[in-house]
Amino acid sequence: MYKVEPATVDDIPGIIACKKDGWLSYVNDEYGITPALIEEKFKNIEGISKRLQQLIEEKRSFIVRENNLVLGVNNPEVEDSGRLRVGALYVRDGYRGKGIGSLLLNNSIKYHKNKSPNKPIFLFVVEYNKGAIRFYERHGFVRTGVKKSDPIIKGSNILIPEIEMRLDV
Ligand SMILES: CC(C)(COP(=O)(O)OP(=O)(O)OC[C@H]1O[C@@H](n2cnc3c(N)ncnc32)[C@H](O)[C@@H]1OP(=O)(O)O)[C@@H](O)C(=O)NCCC(=O)NCCS
Repeated sequence: MYKVEPATVDDIPGIIACKKDGWLSYVNDEYGITPALIEEKFKNIEGISKRLQQLIEEKRSFIVRENNLVLGVNNPEVEDSGRLRVGALYVRDGYRGKGIGSLLLNNSIKYHKNKSPNKPIFLFVVEYNKGAIRFYERHGFVRTGVKKSDPIIKGSNILIPEIEMRLDV
């Protein structure tokens, strides 16, 4: 039985592996998103680890693990404006479709509900990530109609198209 636990610094390499697996699933010819670009995005391991350590210290990094292997990760987020976000959600390749993403998503919703009751929760998801969009719809999220396209890496002209979704709790 999988369960959600707070991440520790020892989980950082496993968290990075889950995130990278997630990003590799966004590879897309039409948008010019190549495996090489994803590799480039994950080059600065030291910087990424530092950021993850900060999230762990702020007690908003949650994982599912099996033995010592990190199978999935989520970091609930509150924007400066106060808007609640599901935050990064990734399940390791080979472990998807087993309910781990649902456990982490429900944990993120519970996290926000406890701290800020009755506020909607938002997320951005890659526009062509049909499986994930269905997954969020199954959990009650609806499309808001808002779209954005950010550079995949700082300074790059390759953009990743995303749509916003919202859950009213
Ligand atoms: C989207 C994601 C977090 C869902 O986690 P999960 O553990 O696979 O989800 P669950 O097992 O709880 O639910 C499975 C559902 O997710 C959807 N799904 C999306 N991508 C999937 C994949 N690669 N494999 C299996 N199911 C996937 C399916 O619609 C499935 O629905 P079903 O049960 O009706 O068939 C996970 O598939 C993932 O990490 N994907 C790659 C990264 C990503 O897209 N992250 C979301 C960023 S916004």
